Amino acid sequence: MSQKIRLGILGGGGDSLIGVLHRVASAMYDQYEIVGGVFNPIWEENIGFAEQIGIPTKRVYIDFDTLVEEELKLPEDERMQVISILTPNFLHFPMAKKLLENGFNVICEKPLTTSYKEAKILQSTLQKAGVVFAVTYTYTGYPMIRQMREMISNGDIGKVQKIDVQYYQGWINPIIHDKEKRDSTWRLDPEKSGISCCVGDIGTHAFDMIEYVSGLKVDSVLADLNYVYDDNKMDVDGTILIRCNNNVKGVIRSSQIATGEENNFTVKIYGEKAGLKWEQENPNYLYLLEEGKPLKVLKPGHTYNGKLSLDGTKMPPGHPEGIFDSMGNIYKGIAKAIKKEPYNHGEFPTIKDGVRGMNFIECVVESHKNGNVWIKIE
Ligand SMILES: NC(=O)c1ccc[n+]([C@@H]2O[C@H](COP(=O)([O-])OP(=O)(O)OC[C@H]3O[C@@H](n4cnc5c(N)ncnc54)[C@H](O)[C@@H]3O)[C@@H](O)[C@H]2O)c1
Repeated sequence: MSQKIRLGILGGGGDSLIGVLHRVASAMYDQYEIVGGVFNPIWEENIGFAEQIGIPTKRVYIDFDTLVEEELKLPEDERMQVISILTPNFLHFPMAKKLLENGFNVICEKPLTTSYKEAKILQSTLQKAGVVFAVTYTYTGYPMIRQMREMISNGDIGKVQKIDVQYYQGWINPIIHDKEKRDSTWRLDPEKSGISCCVGDIGTHAFDMIEYVSGLKVDSVLADLNYVYDDNKMDVDGTILIRCNNNVKGVIRSSQIATGEENNFTVKIYGEKAGLKWEQENPNYLYLLEEGKPLKVLKPGHTYNGKLSLDGTKMPPGHPEGIFDSMGNIYKGIAKAIKKEPYNHGEFPTIKDGVRGMNFIECVVESHKNGNVWIKIE
C-alpha cells in the first residue's frame, strides 16, 4: 500500500481560483495522494471534476457531512489523514471544527474563520484534538521570504526600525462600480466573507508576513478603510498604521481598487544597519540595501542562503521558484508534522497565525468604524 499521506479536499473545484495551487503543491514532493473530497456543492460538477482530474470517484462525496460519516467507517489506515478546506470563508469554521472533533488533521485556507470568536473556539477544539492544523498563508513558503526571516533573526539588518508592506490588486475595480456585478462575488457578501473584504483577503497576508519575517508582534492598529459606495458593506481598500512591540512602527497598505495592479505584494523591512525588500511578482530576488554600498541581490539555491531557505529550493540556482513552489514548501512542512518528523516552526503557518489574523481583521474594522482610533491587538 502507498505510504503517501491520504489527502481529502473540500472546495477547490474546477471553477475555483485556489484549487489548482493546492493540488500541484501537494504533489510537489511526492508526499500526498488525493483520495477524494467534495470539490463543488453541485453533484454533477463535483463528480465531473473528479473524473476530469483522474481521482477515484468512490470517495467523492455528495457533501461534507457525508464525507465525514463515510470516512469514519473506513479502517484508520485507509481513512483520509488530512483534509484541505478551500471553500469560501464562511464554511471554514464549521468544516474545520467537525474535522477536528473527528480526529482529522486539517489544512485550512485563510482567513481562518469569519470571526475572532470562531477562531478561538477552533483553537481550543484543536487543543483537545491534538492533531496537525495549518493555515495556508501561501507567501511564507517562498525561499527568499524564508531567507529574509533568517537574516532578520540573525541580526543582519540590525534592530528593525521601519516596516512598510503593500498588497495592491486592482481586480475588484470593474465590479465595484456596477451595482449588479457587486452581487456576483461572495467576497463582497458579509455572510460568506466575514466583516472585511480587502483586509480579510489580502491585508491579512501582509499582517502575517510582517510577524513571520520580522519576528515582531503587531501590538496595535489604526485603520482608514474605503468602501467606495455608501451602500457597499465591505472594504475594498485599507491603509493601516501599525505599532509593534519594541516601539517599531510601520504601515500596511492594501487595496483591491489599485487599478491595473495584479498581485503587487511588496515587503520592506528596514533595520538600523540595512534594509531588505522583496516583491511577490519577482520572488526570486531579495534586495539588501545598505547605506553607501551598491545594492545586493540575493537569489534562491545558493549556499549563502540559510537552511530553511535552501530546504525550499529544489533546483540549482537560476531556476525560478514561484507560487506553486511556495505552497509546495508549506505542504512539505505539514507532511513532516503529520509523519511526526522533526521540522522547523517556520515551515508552515499554524492555528496561532490564523487566530492572530482574525484578531487583526476585527481590530482594523473596529478602528475604522470608531473614527480611525488606535486599537490594541490582544
Ligand atoms: N492563500 C492564498 O493566497 C489564497 C488565494 C486565493 C484564495 N484563498 C482562499 O481560498 C478560499 C477559496 O477561495 P477561491 O478564490 O478559490 O474561491 P472560489 O470561489 O474561486 O472557489 C470556491 C470553491 O469552493 C467550492 N464550494 C463552495 N461551497 C462548497 C461546499 N459547500 N462544499 C464543497 N465545495 C464548495 C466552489 O464550488 C468552488 O470550487 C477562500 O477562503 C480564500 O480566502 C487563499
